[in-house]
Amino acid sequence: MTAIATVPRTKPTATSTDSAADSIPSQAFEVRRFDAPVGAEIVGLDISKPINAIEFARIHRAHLDHHVVVFRDQNVSPEAQIEFSRRFGPLEIHVLHQFHLKNHPEILIVSNIKENDEPIGLGDAGVYWHSDISYKPKPSLGSLLHAQELPAEGGDTLFADQHLAWEALSPKLQQKVLHLKAEHSYLAKYEDLRAKNPWRPKLSQAQIDQVAPAVHPVVRTHPETGRKALFVSEHFTTRIVGLPQDESDALLAELFAHSVKAEFVYRHAWETHDLVFWDNRSLMHLAAGTADNLRRKLYRTTVIGDTPR
Ligand code: SIN
Repeated sequence: MTAIATVPRTKPTATSTDSAADSIPSQAFEVRRFDAPVGAEIVGLDISKPINAIEFARIHRAHLDHHVVVFRDQNVSPEAQIEFSRRFGPLEIHVLHQFHLKNHPEILIVSNIKENDEPIGLGDAGVYWHSDISYKPKPSLGSLLHAQELPAEGGDTLFADQHLAWEALSPKLQQKVLHLKAEHSYLAKYEDLRAKNPWRPKLSQAQIDQVAPAVHPVVRTHPETGRKALFVSEHFTTRIVGLPQDESDALLAELFAHSVKAEFVYRHAWETHDLVFWDNRSLMHLAAGTADNLRRKLYRTTVIGDTPR
């Protein structure tokens, strides 16, 4: 079995040949590809400072090319994270309003911390492989996760490239799944997770109404690059439309196992002030987990995408 790629941080050097295309002064930054199936780091950019059109185009290109980009050293406010995220599209307001950052509903707190015995955030976010918001008619374009407090060990996030997963499927399986559709549901594992983590809020009827299941192609085409990607996940995909449940279960189990093979995966070991921006149209992700006695807190903004085709 291929080992999963983890990548030590490269040494920053502040060089850039970019010049500003508009009146905003340029920031010197570098995009450095990881020695991994996906991912790159961006060093020397401050997302809270003005970003000119050329720089924004480079960032956008890096996101499309590498699928997950790590902006290093972002000691920035929630407002700056929201403003930067909005440059990529409108932001999702997560159904679990209990874990919105106060006065900033665009931010979902991802955290295992409890204060006065109450969770301050979603402690088990990402325990199953998934693509964010796939359970809605318009799933997410991409998510931005900003480290606020990191554990001394653990707490990594894994990303699996679903273009590579599609390309590595046998031609026979490609043909079988190409035109299939699958149902995605936020509720698929909700009660199982609640049984394990009783702090998970019981959903109100209004919340349940916000997350009616959605049906999407099993293989989607990235709207900006035209590349095909598998689009099913162990967390949210409940069934293949039109197949008997046993056949659907068997096919999904095969796809789930294939889609997260080590050769498609980059494992991110978080560093102080990392802001990680991934493309939910290209990747699935998984939280590796944090020991209960260690504190982990991150802020997530989620950019709304388009209808998968
Ligand atoms: C998520 O699935 O959005 C959270 C991932 C993580 O906590 O590493």
